[in-house]
Amino acid sequence: MPGVVVVGAQWGDEGKGKVVDILTEHAEVVVRYGGGPNAGHTLVVGNEKIIVRLVPSGILRKDTRCVLAQGMVIDLSRLVDEMDELVKRGYPHVSEMLVSDRAHVILSYHRLIDGLREQGDGAIGTTKRGIGPCYEDKVARRGVPMGALRDLGAMRELVGRALEAWQPTIAALGGKPPTVDEVMAEVAPLAPRIVPMLRDTAAIVDEGLRADKYTLFEGAQGTLLDVDHGTYPFVTSSSAIAGGACTGAGVGPTRIKRVIGLVKAYCTRVGGGPFPTELAPPKPDADLGERLRKIGDEYGSVTGRPRRTGWLDLPALRYAARINGLDRIAITKLDVLTGLAKLKVCVAYRTPSGETSDFPVGELDRAEPIYRDCEPWSERTSGARKMEDLPAAARKYVGLIEEAAGCEAMIVSVGSRRDETILRSGVFD
Ligand code: GDP
Ligand code: IMO
Ligand code: MG
Repeated sequence: MPGVVVVGAQWGDEGKGKVVDILTEHAEVVVRYGGGPNAGHTLVVGNEKIIVRLVPSGILRKDTRCVLAQGMVIDLSRLVDEMDELVKRGYPHVSEMLVSDRAHVILSYHRLIDGLREQGDGAIGTTKRGIGPCYEDKVARRGVPMGALRDLGAMRELVGRALEAWQPTIAALGGKPPTVDEVMAEVAPLAPRIVPMLRDTAAIVDEGLRADKYTLFEGAQGTLLDVDHGTYPFVTSSSAIAGGACTGAGVGPTRIKRVIGLVKAYCTRVGGGPFPTELAPPKPDADLGERLRKIGDEYGSVTGRPRRTGWLDLPALRYAARINGLDRIAITKLDVLTGLAKLKVCVAYRTPSGETSDFPVGELDRAEPIYRDCEPWSERTSGARKMEDLPAAARKYVGLIEEAAGCEAMIVSVGSRRDETILRSGVFD
């Protein structure tokens, strides 16, 4: 079964958009299986830069069917705006995209609650897109599935029930809830645009897999932001790991042939939460963190927030390899490391119970990274198209990453453009 999952192995923003775009050259179906407009996947073609948030990164290839599956949460006006923008930029086939009638609708009260909570002590640095409250409604069984757009009368009732349940929370946070009329006034004009795209997408994806269509499952966020396996509670509210492709798209694990983990050559994180290898004051080498941010252009593609930057964390990568069952990796942004005065990687942790090469995900506040020095290099790498074009020290660094992941890097990315890529093997090799 030709199902391939692309999953972030770190805290998101590993370069999934670029790699999915490249891998989609031959894919027939691309499925986003989780998250919502908290994602920002960047695609660079020539001098053009496109950031997709809800639309799958396969959209630039006109013969590829793009699917938004039921693991997602969807903000209607953002979806429509994103589609209009893509049409304007020369991708009219975006209107052929299919959307699950069981994905959940993000409504104005979800955004309101997310924003209000972020003003308080419990802030975790969310994207304020309403992601958490929308998934809360889904698991509380009072959410609004996309299929409700087919019958706005029935949808009104669902909205009324959810608003009633949120009332005390909104009041306690000092906010003013919208009325049902206000919520519906926002939704109603968008429904006719979206209803024609609604389908039982799980059945369509399954049909494609049975017909042997190469199907790419595009992860959003990353392993360490996963609600079950991430650095809880500083996580998103969905299943961002490879297993999330099965639950989020509605396919069985036997349909997945390959799981490709996206590994940035260093680490970044946006928002709050533990980040043991972070290079920020008062830690030593904070200036190198600033340099990585500048050279790597590490600013959030959704909120514009500066991303926190730090050394590569190999125990975290081992953890991601295990949780996702990675059997290939794609390394991105290797070019950003050119010219660093020093280069370190975290190889293990010192914890109260001793030294470990595992990622101590449950006790990161009491764990201290142990580093190993790597040989830096000064040669530019963005022109490299095969491994031999890379300086020996960079090749060694790639080898170190492969060893930790326990599998081969099928792609080494050396720039944001499509051609700035070392493609070492095909997806199914
Ligand atoms: P995603 O959320 O995983 O899709 O990643 P983002 O798009 O949020 O962030 C990755 C950023 O790195 C984008 O600006 C990409 O254009 C850029 N990028 C991807 N691969 C490379 C690379 O190999 N080198 C450099 N310099 N930039 C890259
Ligand atoms: P992509 O797909 C990086 C982070 C937020 C915050 C936490 C919870 O582009 O890699 P949320 O709004 O989801 O409730 O915020 O998760 N976050 C991301 N960080 N990349 C992402 O997506 C992210 N999506 C959510 O910054 O720390
Ligand atoms: Mg991103």
